[in-house]
Amino acid sequence: MELKEAIRKRHSIRAFKPDPVSKEVLSKIMDDAIWAPSWGNTQPWEFTVVEGDMVKKLGEEFSSKYHNNVPDNPDIEMPENWPDLQMGRYKDVGRGLFKTLSIGREDKDKRNEHYVNMFRFFGAPNVIYIYIDKELGIYSVLDVGIVVQNICLLALNYGLGTCIEAAAVRYPDILREHLNIPESKNMVIGIAIGYPDWDNPYNQYRSNRESADALVKWVD
Ligand SMILES: Cc1cc2nc3c(=O)[nH]c(=O)nc-3n(C[C@H](O)[C@H](O)[C@H](O)COP(=O)(O)O)c2cc1C
Repeated sequence: MELKEAIRKRHSIRAFKPDPVSKEVLSKIMDDAIWAPSWGNTQPWEFTVVEGDMVKKLGEEFSSKYHNNVPDNPDIEMPENWPDLQMGRYKDVGRGLFKTLSIGREDKDKRNEHYVNMFRFFGAPNVIYIYIDKELGIYSVLDVGIVVQNICLLALNYGLGTCIEAAAVRYPDILREHLNIPESKNMVIGIAIGYPDWDNPYNQYRSNRESADALVKWVD
């Protein structure tokens, strides 16, 4: 697939078929993804690919914590507020997604179901976790962002879909326990990955973008 086409075509997939992604395909994606640039070629990223029953186990534990209102404690602080402009865009995603799913404003049960679903990785058969050493700073998080986009674009090559999920690292102690990840690492992000269920309305939602004209200043 052309790079330009892949960049435009990638979007978050929030409903997956149960079919697992083979180790062979996941390995090929990872082999290429790690060619991302990083500060001074420090390559700060470390990965754990989760499959099978462990994905289900993590999903159960995450959704149960959410269901029981257990306060989250992500390693990388999550923003609670945004400036008005970004808050507007952020709210648009929620509104748009719920509209596509025909979930009304007052329908607390259905909204709750959505969040439980999110903590279960939207039914993805695999999750790729990315973490970095706690000694590393904000530029290493930027480096992780680049490798994340590589993974999401490469996935398209194999007919796969992805959803980058901050939700997947909201309770990092669960991950450290079950995935045997040391305390010395900061869990940065999880990527749900699998074959998209195109019949599910979740996957009909498309976010939009500000035009480049509104964002780019030209100086000569
Ligand atoms: C750092 C990061 C964290 C995200 N966390 C979540 C998440 O927890 N749940 C979710 O449904 N989507 C999550 N997303 C997906 C964004 O909502 C999505 O990328 C954005 O709305 C743009 O839509 P698109 O990916 O379809 O282009 C995350 C994306 C990024 C980059």
